[in-house]
Amino acid sequence: MPEGPQRWPRWKSLRVTLPSVLASNHPMPTDITVLDLSAYVGLAAVGAVTLNMLLGTLMAFRYSPVRQWPHRHFNYFRLHNLSGYVALSLAVVHPIVLLFDKTAKFRVLDLLYPVHSPSQPLENTIGAVALYGVAIVVATSYLRIRLGRRLWKSLHFSIYIAAAALFWHSLFTDPALKNSPVDYLDGGKLFVESCLALIVILAALRYRHSLRKTHRAQS
Ligand code: HEM
Repeated sequence: MPEGPQRWPRWKSLRVTLPSVLASNHPMPTDITVLDLSAYVGLAAVGAVTLNMLLGTLMAFRYSPVRQWPHRHFNYFRLHNLSGYVALSLAVVHPIVLLFDKTAKFRVLDLLYPVHSPSQPLENTIGAVALYGVAIVVATSYLRIRLGRRLWKSLHFSIYIAAAALFWHSLFTDPALKNSPVDYLDGGKLFVESCLALIVILAALRYRHSLRKTHRAQS
């Protein structure tokens, strides 16, 4: 089983083993390592943050699913909130899983303050910045009414800083913890790159929208 960035073969083997396992009533295949699990949870967190930012941008554009397509009631504000909680939960679980990999040698302190963590400390520290950023955005959204719109909004925009940190961390961390060069065509990295492309487009549209709004207010 190849370790590290080349993860397509691992997925292939999953597809092959799963049906035979189901047919023979064996427990789940054990060829997913703890590091794989941590990486998959990390990737799911990236997906949840991307969905959350997509829905947030739709709100900024005052998109209405009733007036526009699909002309139906759909409370996407709730989905935006829910995806925020899911993203935070996954982002918390992802580093915790590392504690169960004996070879990785991570301690609780290395997760809270990864500056001296056993491998790729810079990448891990940037991951922690992302995690704390997402936590601040989710916590302050929960306290939105008490904080007042102005303060809440300025804190909410720190999601862009958190997103920059989480994409940096997700792209440049070696999932095998071997400090190998990044394989940009690895399945996980391709997923992160697609999410990043979407966020860059959304951020550009959002920026143009706020420029137009300021321009209209001034004229
Ligand atoms: C205390 C905070 C964090 C630490 C210490 C940490 C640590 C690590 C480590 C050691 C790896 C390589 C091993 C593995 O794949 O699990 C990794 C990979 C990764 N992390 Fe984190 N991380 C943190 C936060 C985050 C956050 C907040 C996200 C996303 C929201 C994230 C997403 C990812 C992704 C997508 C990968 C790469 C998976 C791949 O290439 O397949 N991490 N992280």
